[in-house]
Amino acid sequence: MTREHWGSRAGFVMAAAGSAVGLGNIWKFPYVTGDNGGGAFLLVYLGLVFLFGVSLVMAELVIGRTAQRDPIGAFRKLAGGAWPLVGMLGVFTGFVILSFYSVVAGWTMAYVGYMASGALATTDADVLGQAFTAFIGEGVRPVVYAAVFMVLTALVVVGGIGRGIERAAKLLMPLLFILLIVLVVRSVTLPGAMEGVRFYLTPDFSRLDAEAWGAAIGQAFFSLSLGMGALITYGSYMSRQQALPSSALSIVALDTTVALLAGLMILPAVFAFGFDPGEGAGLAFVTLPAVFASMPAGTVFGVMFFVLLTVAALTSSVSLLEVVVTYLVDEWSLSRRVATLAAASVCFLAGVPSALSQGAVGGLVFADASFLDWMTRLTDLLLPLGGLFIALFVGWVMGPAAVAAATDDGRAPLPLARVWLWILRVVAPAGIGFILINTLLS
Ligand code: TRP
Repeated sequence: MTREHWGSRAGFVMAAAGSAVGLGNIWKFPYVTGDNGGGAFLLVYLGLVFLFGVSLVMAELVIGRTAQRDPIGAFRKLAGGAWPLVGMLGVFTGFVILSFYSVVAGWTMAYVGYMASGALATTDADVLGQAFTAFIGEGVRPVVYAAVFMVLTALVVVGGIGRGIERAAKLLMPLLFILLIVLVVRSVTLPGAMEGVRFYLTPDFSRLDAEAWGAAIGQAFFSLSLGMGALITYGSYMSRQQALPSSALSIVALDTTVALLAGLMILPAVFAFGFDPGEGAGLAFVTLPAVFASMPAGTVFGVMFFVLLTVAALTSSVSLLEVVVTYLVDEWSLSRRVATLAAASVCFLAGVPSALSQGAVGGLVFADASFLDWMTRLTDLLLPLGGLFIALFVGWVMGPAAVAAATDDGRAPLPLARVWLWILRVVAPAGIGFILINTLLS
């Protein structure tokens, strides 16, 4: 049987960008930036994205396109030995991410109704903060919403409405982008917003500790869907004709643009309304309703925004579940249906502690952080670790063959290809390793 391929380069870029753009950009990026002091973190983040991110996106795509297989099968086919363990690590990481991702996506869905009810039509920081804390601290609804989101993800992955979601995403993602720009304009023109713009764009290097570097590299990988084989899987559906370096650049540019805009939407408003930029995982949920309340037709915009964000989350969660399902189908010979049911159920169950760790069950807070926070921290370690091995693999094991594959047999400029290879061989592994060790020791 010949393997299915993306219909066009644009189709592939859309799917990969759909995977990259999600809660990571709009929910996680602004609060992590706020937590780590703003401008200096932003600079480090951008540096890591362009130095390591682009190279690693290309590396994953090369593995996938060359092997035409799922991550574990790809490592086995291309090298064997212990390398398939890297694929296993990726599948496990995907599990961890999807478990908490569905919880936060559930909050997003809940906020569609919450916005529509009008209960959040205020700019009062205390009221909005308490509303959010009360909701995520409930014992039932957050779990139910997470379950509903997981069911939606599973339905897409089983394939029934795959075409529908692709068509919907093509329409809705540009819409989300436009809405984002509208909200940025509203946010930066609020009275007092300039303090937030300054916080966001002026580097304060005293805030750059080991923890900030670790958060930056974790965020870069998370946002680009890197380090766990999602892009190996997507690359395995690429044909030889589809130019690789330019696709990688488009994906990175799109994802980074959306993250930058999200920061510019949230952080100025945070200062304008007197929220705390170090608020943590609730930052977007408490700040955005205030932005909506301060604009005409805010309720309509608010409902639209959370619907679009749910769709963005769905195109991301699909890529996470897809990796686990492909693994179960290929390695355990399960049917797609059974594999999806099994993977989605276990991921949902693994997410229950995250859902209940926000106040419902006190025992789910360890040291200074909730179970959900610990899952995001674990992710920030596992993804760069996976990326480190992927870089070494493409740099040393595939080597010149990877250059031939990535440059479409010499059609891309060679000097750049050589730089790319040495980034993968030395710069990225050393840089990632150094940051990870520093983070673990701090
Ligand atoms: N990148 C997505 C986001 O920013 C999340 C995501 C989807 C992801 N697939 C992934 C993260 C694979 C890491 C690996 O929301």
